[in-house]
Amino acid sequence: MVSLRSAQQQLRKRRNIVEEALEDFVQEKMASTQAPAMTLAREVLLAGGKRYRPVLTMLAFESAGGEDVSEVMDLALAAELIHTATLVHDDIYDFSKTRRGKPTLHASHGLAHGIIGGDYLFVLGFGLGGKYEAKIVEKMAETCANIASGELLQHEHIGNLATTPENYYSIIDGKTAGPFATACACAAIVAGASDEVVYSLEEFGWEVGRAFQLVDDLLDLTGDENMGKPRGGDVHEGKMTLPIIHALTMLHGIEREQLADVLQNFSDDRWNELVSLLSTAGSFEYSEQLIENHVNRALLQLESLPQSIARNLMEEVAKRSRSRKK
Ligand code: IPE
Ligand code: IPE
Ligand code: MG
Ligand code: MG
Repeated sequence: MVSLRSAQQQLRKRRNIVEEALEDFVQEKMASTQAPAMTLAREVLLAGGKRYRPVLTMLAFESAGGEDVSEVMDLALAAELIHTATLVHDDIYDFSKTRRGKPTLHASHGLAHGIIGGDYLFVLGFGLGGKYEAKIVEKMAETCANIASGELLQHEHIGNLATTPENYYSIIDGKTAGPFATACACAAIVAGASDEVVYSLEEFGWEVGRAFQLVDDLLDLTGDENMGKPRGGDVHEGKMTLPIIHALTMLHGIEREQLADVLQNFSDDRWNELVSLLSTAGSFEYSEQLIENHVNRALLQLESLPQSIARNLMEEVAKRSRSRKK
């Protein structure tokens, strides 16, 4: 077991490696004909994301027996570039004005720049991931296609008070958990791991990814200004997140009608009313319980791997994802 302090140091070390690799990558493009596109893309890329995906990619590689981490860095960067690309486009259709504590690309430069900036980041990410073996490239392509399906499904359920938990899980598996799972699985493939190890790490990614999106959706209702994006965006958008789906099922009679009215005619002055209805329904505790379950399942998957520092750090990341505040 690594101590908490040493775990923090080790995780910081990996985040720094990711940060430096990203900066080098940006510099290389800035010295090329791509400078105008990178000038735009680097605004969001280097704005201080949490780097969960590339760090987990590195740790999955190490915990699967990989030794030379440089072998997996292109994959780690691909995960972050593709993730950032999806955020740039997600912010367009979610009408979000702030991302990573800065104005979104489309908010400061207009729609065309947002679309181009997102496409550019996506292509860069795919270019790096495309250097790996065919199995990895196919997995990446399928995962990216599923992000599109998840985002579309979410769009179709906007304002739909009959949305079920199953619908919700299809959405978050596509847009968030799949990319976590694929990053971990592909890292294990790069490490030359057995099918069993690849499977365990992929399942770990699914469960951590689900927990991660559940926390994000909970923070939209309970978070503060430290998140780098304002809270309440999902409610304004009419997104059917799990606490809301739960409350719509649990409440009856006049409270159910009141909740439907708050959601359909939402404005900021109805915030306390919404939070109070969600509390009455026990929806925050319900989400917290599910987050706990997903994290515990993720931890269970790690038990089948040999003991290593990287495995301990993955446990730490999974546990932290449950209590993160941003
Ligand atoms: C935001 O992801 C989108 C979700 C899938 C919840 P992150 O919370 O990882 O965003 P950054 O990369 O730290 O900005
Ligand atoms: C995550 O969904 C978007 C993608 C994974 C593409 P959200 O819409 O919940 O993320 P935030 O809240 O804007 O960061
Ligand atoms: Mg969004
Ligand atoms: Mg969100």
